[in-house]
Amino acid sequence: MKNAVINGTGSYLPERSVTNQDLEAKLDTSHEWILTRTGISSRHVASEHETTSFMACKAAEKAVEASDIEANDIDLILVATCTPNHFFPSMACHVQKALKISKPIPAFDVSAACSGFVYAMDIARQYITSGTVKHVLVIGSESMSRALDWSDRSTCVLFGDGAGAVVLSASEKSGILASTLHALHDEEALLSYPNYATEPHKAFIGMRGNEVFKLAVNIMGDVVDEVLQDCHLQKSDINWLIPHQANIRIIQAIAKKLNLPMSQVIVTIENQGNTSAASIPLALDYSIREQRIKRGELLLIESFGGGMTWGAMVIRY
Ligand code: ACO
Repeated sequence: MKNAVINGTGSYLPERSVTNQDLEAKLDTSHEWILTRTGISSRHVASEHETTSFMACKAAEKAVEASDIEANDIDLILVATCTPNHFFPSMACHVQKALKISKPIPAFDVSAACSGFVYAMDIARQYITSGTVKHVLVIGSESMSRALDWSDRSTCVLFGDGAGAVVLSASEKSGILASTLHALHDEEALLSYPNYATEPHKAFIGMRGNEVFKLAVNIMGDVVDEVLQDCHLQKSDINWLIPHQANIRIIQAIAKKLNLPMSQVIVTIENQGNTSAASIPLALDYSIREQRIKRGELLLIESFGGGMTWGAMVIRY
């Protein structure tokens, strides 16, 4: 059986950066409040032409460039997003076109809010380890700025836009070692983003932040234990934690549960905010290009989001 191995990564961030000071000028908020409660100083906000599909294509092109394959070698495209600019053609079909892939390979979007990238990586892994395909392009791309009520200070300061991509390839080498996914219907309506077509009056992201915060810290601690058990590894084996970037305090709490110093945690939230399904592949690409993460090291990725959905994965890079 072949393993699913990270072959190349890429990412894209919109040109425009919006600082907390920019938000102070428009909202009853402060740089101090946002930074101390969330760890965010600024976030990238997409311009009109930087749609979710545009960003996905840019990140995908870079991931393919960084890999040892050509675009036409890709057998499957998955785009994790909760902010597609079209429901169909899917974002994945847009990427297929942009990469000029001539074969009619399967391509589809994955909807699991902030956990979408972990879900898509798990699907890709199943396709590879079953021997069905050799190369999968997995992308997380989000335009969170288009899903926000910019007069709601409790949500609009938290999110940002961007995309990250990974080429996963079948290999004899070690790759994804274990993966665990979960979902449980959000009875309490802690996190929601209604469809504009059916609920135009409230088609923005809504969140009961404090409750989500507590749930995230507890659930992430459990899922991390579960995924490590699955691959018979210890917390001390982890070289890098690459968490979903929702809040620096959630990230610190998970690092503490893992007994990991923050120097072994990839943190991008300060200048990116929460980019939902794009946050992990953005952080992964950034840390690989900065040569912080090196081949052979053990990575733990984990995420938590609307649905509720959550998951974690252990990867030998
Ligand atoms: N500026 C100033 N004050 C604010 C702001 C703001 N931007 N937003 C809220 N406040 C106020 C509130 O009104 C409240 O005031 P009150 O005490 O007078 O009522 C006070 O600050 C405290 O509000 P809390 O919500 O209790 O603040 P908390 O410390 O919980 O921080 C936050 C809020 C940052 C949202 C935090 O709860 C959090 O990060 N939650 C988790 C978010 C998350 O993980 N999301 C995951 C997935 S997202 C997805 O799936 C799409």
